[in-house]
Amino acid sequence: MALSADTLAGLRDELGDCHRCPLGDTRTTLVFGHGNPHARVMLVGEAPGRNEDLTGQPFVGAAGKLLDELLGHGGLVREDVYIANILKCRPPGNRDPKRVEVETCTPFLMAQIHLVDPELVVTLGNFATRLMLDTREGITALRGQITLVQGRSVYPVFHPAASIYDRAKRETLISDFARVPEILDSLKGGDAG
Ligand code: URA
Repeated sequence: MALSADTLAGLRDELGDCHRCPLGDTRTTLVFGHGNPHARVMLVGEAPGRNEDLTGQPFVGAAGKLLDELLGHGGLVREDVYIANILKCRPPGNRDPKRVEVETCTPFLMAQIHLVDPELVVTLGNFATRLMLDTREGITALRGQITLVQGRSVYPVFHPAASIYDRAKRETLISDFARVPEILDSLKGGDAG
């Protein structure tokens, strides 16, 4: 799919009232993405859930509240970062994304990354990590490690929703987010860590 937009607003227009895959028929609201269009840090999640589908905003509700806390541990607030999901529409019942859905929606995520041009892409959970690193390896093995992908640093962490009721995962997420300032400093110096 050739996308021509050279701004986020233009890309949103290009997405339009999307029905490129069947999720267009079941969603309530398309969740494009949100945040600082010039962010140094971009977060990539999986797909909108129920609250996101109703509001059109990524990460609202319990996972969003936890995400805000995690950002705080990294010295950030939501307005500092840009947040987008792989899928822009909610899979019914929050089921896992299907391959055709991921393939159809990924060009829009890649265009968002290109337009925001962040130094650091934090992938939240398995789906985003596997997509960005083009691997079948799981998040438990990959979390906390930085990989350069086409000149951009990708930093996988657990998905906040997976750590709401898992104390150990939450502690790990907190310490992974607390490393973000030091990672950004090292990137400024041209060292990918
Ligand atoms: N989970 C995600 O991956 N993205 C959201 O926007 C909300 C929950």
